[in-house]
Amino acid sequence: MEQKKKSPNKLKLLAGYYKPYKRLFFADLFFAVLGSAVTLVIPLLVRYIMNSVGAMPTSEAKGIILQIGIGMLVLILVQLGSRYFITYYGHMMGAYIEHDMRNEIFSHYQKLSFTFYDNQKVGHLLSRITSDLFDISELLHHGPEDILISFIKLLGAFIILLNVNWKLALISIGIVIVMLVYALIFNKKMKYAFKENRARIADINSQIEDSLAGIRVVKSFGNEKREMEKFAKGNERFVDAKRLTYRYMAGYHSGMDAFTTLITVASLVAGAFFLTDGTLSAADLVTFLLYINNFTEPVTKLVNFTEQFQNGYSGYDRFLEMMAIAPDIADAPDAVSLDHVDGDIRFEEVSFRYEENQEEVLSHVNLEVKPGEYVALVGSSGAGKTTLCSLIPRFYDVSDGRILLDGRDIRQIKLKDLRRQIGIVQQDVYLFAGTIMENIRYGKPGASDEEVIRAAKAANAHDFIMEMPADYDTDIGQRGVKLSGGQKQRLSIARAFLKNPPILIFDEATSALDNESEKVVQDSLEKLAKDRTTFVIAHRLSTIRNARRILVLTEEGIAEEGTHKELLAKDGVYARLCEAGL
Ligand code: GTP
Ligand code: MG
Repeated sequence: MEQKKKSPNKLKLLAGYYKPYKRLFFADLFFAVLGSAVTLVIPLLVRYIMNSVGAMPTSEAKGIILQIGIGMLVLILVQLGSRYFITYYGHMMGAYIEHDMRNEIFSHYQKLSFTFYDNQKVGHLLSRITSDLFDISELLHHGPEDILISFIKLLGAFIILLNVNWKLALISIGIVIVMLVYALIFNKKMKYAFKENRARIADINSQIEDSLAGIRVVKSFGNEKREMEKFAKGNERFVDAKRLTYRYMAGYHSGMDAFTTLITVASLVAGAFFLTDGTLSAADLVTFLLYINNFTEPVTKLVNFTEQFQNGYSGYDRFLEMMAIAPDIADAPDAVSLDHVDGDIRFEEVSFRYEENQEEVLSHVNLEVKPGEYVALVGSSGAGKTTLCSLIPRFYDVSDGRILLDGRDIRQIKLKDLRRQIGIVQQDVYLFAGTIMENIRYGKPGASDEEVIRAAKAANAHDFIMEMPADYDTDIGQRGVKLSGGQKQRLSIARAFLKNPPILIFDEATSALDNESEKVVQDSLEKLAKDRTTFVIAHRLSTIRNARRILVLTEEGIAEEGTHKELLAKDGVYARLCEAGL
């Protein structure tokens, strides 16, 4: 019931994608009809020449043959033009539609929340954007065109041949029907084998990706050989899957070829019989043979279409499914804009769990941070420090309670404005492939080179950047592999300097930095924190020693609070954390 209700809607939506290209679409169909009509007319002209011209006086006949010859030449040109048009513009129309859908899904991806991405594989999201959309666009432009062409050719040829000689027409259409059934059966088998192939190739691809992305780990464990063996196994299964595909493919193509020849031979033999009977003229027999292509070509086209339809439509289904996912973090209808904030942050009875029916990571957290205050968060690994901080920019929404910024619930503030006020230096810094300059400028698109350099200087990054081969224009490789941990962190700090937000969240890297870079990072952080409300998630004593306010986060929420000295004197959780080196 629901399905029935849905499908016209779906088709209507699909039709909507043609709308901007309506003229192109109808032109494409027009030329498809024109091209197939020409194909049908040419054999008729041949028949006319053979039938009537022979009876005329030679001089007259020559003139007419010349005229018809020229006429056929013109028709060939028309056919050429039509074919060119539908191949070029038809595909272009598909590309335009694919382009539009791709824009749509990509901008949809940008809106979806962290929760969505936590549960997705990037590879799958990628294939939605690439291969699924390609299948859809192929269907959208080939579908209507192929059906129309096949229909006209098949039906046209059949009607014409019925008029020429109905007995011969029935014989050939009978063979065509058997051929169609044969093609459908083999196509189904091939489809299954192709699906297997695709799965195998996807497996191999993801294995290659995983193995190459982790090449440093592979080498450090000396596991190259193991990786090679794993790969070889998958690669062999690929060959097995291919074997099956090619077997079916061989059956399909050889069968189709045989049927095509069979139609020719059957028409010729039966035609020759009728010829001796005197019920068929030689001209009609030639006409018949010229039409055989018009029978066999639509059969292959229609069979291809069933496959295209399945791929395209299931791709379209997946596309709609994706577009139907509503971003769970979005502006409330009555959200207000914020231009300037003081940076007063309050947590009121905040509880949070990542997913329903999972344990709470935070429960009933209460916290008040004054504008410009510097707060250090400590706690054992997995206590929820990163989680607590990711609630402030609304990467996730609280499950219970509320968070206030300058006295206003953050869910009542426009997301864009909220996030503009918050600078984040993440635990594992993400850098984009590109140059250092581009990566720092990400903090404030449109910033001048001078601004970027000033930010880098403030982040103590300028000196090491100047030592790079092409200083600010140095390419840092995928994810910044060409930089050290401390260097990446400083670039990330430079980004935050450039953004210049009133609120700052600094999630210290857990991986150890050497003493010297630890000091430089520490120094740049302190400069950055000046006059901002700052949350520092600290993993190092040096980061917190000077903090006037330290919060100790445990499973029970904020267990202790105070300065380094006060907390040590308490001899509680903090003291034990310090003993363990945090
Ligand atoms: P360290 O960075 O190791 O010091 O820990 P942390 O205090 O920052 O812990 P974090 O806030 O990252 O994690 C708290 C708990 O939430 C842990 O038990 C994690 O297993 C869990 N967690 C973290 N991220 C996710 C997530 O994206 N999804 C789900 N379901 N759980 C998560
Ligand atoms: Mg963390």
